[in-house]
Amino acid sequence: MPQLNRGIFIVLEGIDGAGKTTQLDLLRQNLEDRGFSVVLSKEPTNGTWGQHIRKLYVNDERMKVTADEEAELFVRDRAEDVALTIQPALDQKKIVIVDRYFYSNLAYQGARGASMDLIREHNACFPVPDLVFLIDLDPQLGTFRIQKYRDESTNAFEKYEELQKVRQIFNTLPDRNIIKITGNKSIEDIQHTILELALDYISQIVL
Ligand code: TMP
Repeated sequence: MPQLNRGIFIVLEGIDGAGKTTQLDLLRQNLEDRGFSVVLSKEPTNGTWGQHIRKLYVNDERMKVTADEEAELFVRDRAEDVALTIQPALDQKKIVIVDRYFYSNLAYQGARGASMDLIREHNACFPVPDLVFLIDLDPQLGTFRIQKYRDESTNAFEKYEELQKVRQIFNTLPDRNIIKITGNKSIEDIQHTILELALDYISQIVL
């Protein structure tokens, strides 16, 4: 089994329907096939705050909280995720792959009008990922995929105009760890690109 000299933190981001979860599962499988130990997480989590958040948007009650309050709920959920899953796995020198992180906080709550400076400030205590794969897709296609393949109607976070704003914020985030991936290619092509980039990075951390 290849030994890493520290943990590696990878995040997948993108609008709803961009294909993050599919790519995350494939990346996990491909890395495990190469002998790496991988831990997964997903935000919002299934923890106390994550469940609270999901209830808000399943019941369409999102407008009961302000954009800044909503941003804060995700920060609390993230604090749990970091404490319970992400940091312990990084300490054990594993590869951690997370489906959404504070870049979603910036893009989604920023799109709703929350202060991006405050969101940055409140997320500043969390570990910064080594690599953030941002899968970029036209929201029209994302929304179509959600309705067609997931047999779901779009939830309050997924309304089209809002997703256009979300996409625009994602695409203008200045963070240097973000790697933009074109999302309208085949699943295999996208995975090939992500895996190559991840392996290249990981190869520098192997003992
Ligand atoms: P999911 O569809 O990937 O489970 O994510 C649920 C929704 O949560 C998604 O529409 C984006 C939203 N979200 C935020 O608005 N802010 C955040 O910080 C995170 C992590 C997710």
